[in-house]
Amino acid sequence: MNRSLILAWILVLCTAAIPCCQGYYSKTVAYKPRRQKVTHLHFFLHDTMNGNNPSAIVVARPNITSRTNFGNIVVADDPLTVGPDVKSEVIGNAQGLLVPSGQNVLSLTALLDFEFTKGEFNGSSISVFSRNPITQRERQLAVVGGRGKFAMATGVANLTTYFGNLKGDAIVEYHVTVIHY
Ligand SMILES: *[C@@H]1O[C@H](CO)[C@@H](O)[C@H](O)[C@H]1NC(C)=O
Ligand SMILES: *[C@@H]1O[C@H](CO)[C@@H](O)[C@H](O)[C@H]1NC(C)=O
Ligand SMILES: *[C@@H]1O[C@H](CO)[C@@H](O)[C@H](O)[C@H]1NC(C)=O
Repeated sequence: MNRSLILAWILVLCTAAIPCCQGYYSKTVAYKPRRQKVTHLHFFLHDTMNGNNPSAIVVARPNITSRTNFGNIVVADDPLTVGPDVKSEVIGNAQGLLVPSGQNVLSLTALLDFEFTKGEFNGSSISVFSRNPITQRERQLAVVGGRGKFAMATGVANLTTYFGNLKGDAIVEYHVTVIHY
């Protein structure tokens, strides 16, 4: 064997012995930011807790009663429509949990995935994880991420109550600003 072949073999053996990575993570490198875009969304959410066909149901409640329903857990699959009329075109749905979490004032913590089923953003979704102080007519929720065309999104949703009753039915207007790639 000549010298260079031996050196080549040593190189091959050494490279094989050195692990390329620690099994579950890559080398950390500088993040190269990409140009972001902004999309505004406008729709109405219909949250119905009453009637024959509720879109939100209480699945657990504590063994105390409170004015603010503190500690209840509500699962929702609320339709999103283009107009305030529930019979207007459905463009998606918000699925997840609504947790009444105010002890003194009625307020929810919302953990919802808003997936769109029409047009450009069909199959894409935005994730909301935010306090939702529903007694305020206007309020803002945090958009913390997304899927599909909204992958790695951030944003805010401005909410205005269009209709609401004490039994827990509501129609809420959403103006959302989504920053995404
Ligand atoms: C609620 O549950 C706790 C813990 O099990 C119990 O001590 C308490 O008596 C219950 N309260 C009511 C109103 O049932
Ligand atoms: C939305 O995407 C689904 C799944 O790809 C497809 O079945 C459906 O036809 C699409 N709807 C519209 C309105 O584009
Ligand atoms: C949401 O509300 C904020 C604060 O009032 C405002 O700056 C922003 O323009 C609103 N965004 C939309 C999409 O309405």
